[in-house]
Amino acid sequence: MANLVVKPSRGLRGEIVLPGDKSLSHRSVILSAIAEGDTVINGFLTGEDTVNTARAVQAMGITIEGINSSRLIVHGKGLDGLSEPSGVLDLGNSGTGMRLLAGLLSGQSFFSVLTGDQYLRKRPMARIVAPLRRMGAVIDGRSGGTLAPLAIRGSGRKTQSIDFTTPVASAQVKSAVLLAGLYGDGETSVNEPSKSRDHTERMLRFFGAGLTEQGTIVTLRGRQALRPQGPIDIPSDISSAAFFLVAASIVPGSDLTIKNVGVNPTRTGIIEILTAMGADISFENPREQAGEPVADLSVRYRKLRAIEIAGTLIPRTIDEIPVLSVAASYAEGTSIIKDASELRVKESDRIATMVTELKKMGAQVTERSDGMEITGREALDGAVCESHGDHRIAMSMAVAGLAARGETVVRDTQWIETSFPGFEQVLRQVM
Ligand code: S3P
Repeated sequence: MANLVVKPSRGLRGEIVLPGDKSLSHRSVILSAIAEGDTVINGFLTGEDTVNTARAVQAMGITIEGINSSRLIVHGKGLDGLSEPSGVLDLGNSGTGMRLLAGLLSGQSFFSVLTGDQYLRKRPMARIVAPLRRMGAVIDGRSGGTLAPLAIRGSGRKTQSIDFTTPVASAQVKSAVLLAGLYGDGETSVNEPSKSRDHTERMLRFFGAGLTEQGTIVTLRGRQALRPQGPIDIPSDISSAAFFLVAASIVPGSDLTIKNVGVNPTRTGIIEILTAMGADISFENPREQAGEPVADLSVRYRKLRAIEIAGTLIPRTIDEIPVLSVAASYAEGTSIIKDASELRVKESDRIATMVTELKKMGAQVTERSDGMEITGREALDGAVCESHGDHRIAMSMAVAGLAARGETVVRDTQWIETSFPGFEQVLRQVM
């Protein structure tokens, strides 16, 4: 079990480059596998989550060069080139890996089993199993197919195209249905209550697939051959940058530049929220890589004020709410986070776990069924905190410790490896 000891910082300074975007890494290796010919992926996240997805793809007969590195060459075999894996596919902690692959596997003409670690096996799967069954896949699993392990007999050539309205704004659900939809003869559409991240749509386009979007409805024609327009250059993950954006905003004396960050508008809720709280963040060098907007971000300390985070902003900042609750704990006034009950079904129940851990540091925080209320303080007190098996809780508490009085110990931090290998080194480099 690893622990992280965090001492108060006198200012985070310098220039940093962070690991590749997790969402893009999962999608790049999945789409490359069913594309025609070779795809080069630069900046692939070598975290446990995405490496598990790459290994699952390998287990279906796809050759991947450089599997443990950030530069992969995937030898795609086309839409129908995957073969039946001989063993169970273990996605570890990764909800994205499991749900996206369940979509892909539903369109295959073979049998497969997906499982994960103790945390992933508790996360809801009915949200993908229901539409994938409608598309013709035969799926079973624990609790009537609502929990992993999931056994999938794909529908292959018989895959049905569907119009699906999802009750939750979830890119994982949308992507699972679109990936299965690639195997149907007609058009598959997904309508979500508000727009979730659109990386699958953008990357499908980069692979040459035609796709239409009307408001919150995405429609994809099945059986389109995929061919990459060039190498996929994956930028740094804005969800990892978020820890440093908040850290620099709450530690006086900070002045930090984060290079090459993905700034897809469906992911930049964190920047809009921090800016509305008074943070000093600027975009430099805006450009595009493989259909995704990218920029360098600079952030300097500035006292923050309270904010309300709700509604359509939630899916655009879903993974950043734990660290935003840290920002709110240091802001002037009372912040409200609501409409965020999806947080309860992430790697941990992120409402309960953040409330518990912030309270240990003396934060004034109240739990709500769909969020929390936080009244900021000048400084929190160092404490011994737990990760609850959740990478983002571990990193959020480390950030809280940087601006606290006294030392903070975050226990069980090996989970950070799932999305941000090298987090501690980057932190030590700038603090
Ligand atoms: C992800 C989507 C989000 C997010 C997760 C990654 C993705 O989940 O929380 O970390 O890559 O599609 P939901 O779409 O289920 O909200």
